Amino acid sequence: MPAILFVCLGNICRSPAAEGVLIHLARKNNPPIDLIVESCGLGDWHEGQLPDERMRKAAKSRGIVLSSRAQPFHTDFFEKFDYILAADKSVMYELHKWAKIPEHKAKIHLMTKFSSSYTNEEIPDPFYLDQGHFELVMDMLEETCQGLLAHLIEELNEK
Ligand code: 4NP
Repeated sequence: MPAILFVCLGNICRSPAAEGVLIHLARKNNPPIDLIVESCGLGDWHEGQLPDERMRKAAKSRGIVLSSRAQPFHTDFFEKFDYILAADKSVMYELHKWAKIPEHKAKIHLMTKFSSSYTNEEIPDPFYLDQGHFELVMDMLEETCQGLLAHLIEELNEK
């Protein structure tokens, strides 16, 4: 089963939203697609917390309930997951520093890698910004996760 990890800075805004969106899309696909999906942060400042209230509000208005609890990145994740998807370039570069072998580095990409409208753009950090920026994050993630799911389905069909 494909295993996907979304990574941002605090794991309370962008990556838990990406996790919620991908799970939602995979479930409502016909047929539903079985995936392992988790998210985490580079830091542990928010460990155990639900996603930011503003992020949950933006997701809920699109029918997606975000209920994951924040966790920090752990080096075991380089083995556990097939795709390690970073919200922005600074997160991606940090993960690259932590990955010690080429097989692990090869798993790291930007979240928007498989998007058709936002290919390899950064998901902007909304934490210090207003609600409109949380809506933009959802717009970007809904689009990019559709591309990601299409890619994963293609890979599954090749097997
Ligand atoms: P995230 O957003 O990386 O999308 O979860 C942030 C959350 C918290 C902080 C920064 C960004 N912070 O500085 O606490």
